[in-house]
Amino acid sequence: MNTDNLVKELGINHIGIIMDGNGRWAQKRGLPRKAGHPKGAEAFKKCLDSCVKLGVPCVTFYAFSTENWSRPKDEVDSLMNLFLSFMDEMMKLSSKNIRLRFIGSRDGVPEKICAKMDEAESRTVGNTGTWCCVAFNYGGKEEILHATKKIALEYKNGSIGIDDIDETAFNSCLYTEGLPDVDLIIRPSGEQRLSNFLIWQAAYAEFVFMDVLWPDFSEKDLIAALVEYGKRNRRFGGV
Ligand code: IPE
Ligand code: IPE
Ligand code: MG
Repeated sequence: MNTDNLVKELGINHIGIIMDGNGRWAQKRGLPRKAGHPKGAEAFKKCLDSCVKLGVPCVTFYAFSTENWSRPKDEVDSLMNLFLSFMDEMMKLSSKNIRLRFIGSRDGVPEKICAKMDEAESRTVGNTGTWCCVAFNYGGKEEILHATKKIALEYKNGSIGIDDIDETAFNSCLYTEGLPDVDLIIRPSGEQRLSNFLIWQAAYAEFVFMDVLWPDFSEKDLIAALVEYGKRNRRFGGV
């Protein structure tokens, strides 16, 4: 199958990927859950390369949710350490013309990680290729509350009137400001839910749920999800 123009032909602007199933991948092999996360990070790198190769304009990866803090401390600590060491690799992405964006709340995120996120974003700020967003300490509900507070402050200081609060104004207060709405959400691992991922932006997204566990997710799976997307009939409420 020639995939050179697939993404363009499908008109895809933004793909969201819920990187799920690391823990089960490890447990299936008799390993502790946390052993699955470095494998998940490898799958992330490969998937990002595939997205760049396929010409995906924007891809958002769900890496850590606002609810994931409720996991055992040992697992949360190992995820934070993994993320920190992984950030150094992310810095190298600048050579691939990738634009990096971290979406989510900074509350409770270790200062060292925040500094690396800022550095990685600023290093890739001049790039013009694929947008790679990483949702870290991200929750869709938190994002909507964050945007609401921002708008309330603007109203309070007189810079916005009630009638100016429309979708465009609201979009500009979200972490995804300036990025297109999500066309396709892919969730491996067999679960069929959003788990608080991009709940505003996915209002008209197509969902592809797959049985593969994230560490095993390959370019073949990504293409299969794109092909499935191509069979959908998006109507946006029309006929
Ligand atoms: C996804 O894999 C990674 C994060 C949520 C950080 P999980 O750790 O949720 O793996 P499962 O779903 O328990 O198998
Ligand atoms: C969603 O996966 C969050 C990430 C992949 C980062 P979870 O494993 O946390 O979701 P639930 O708990 O199964 O809904
Ligand atoms: Mg999970």
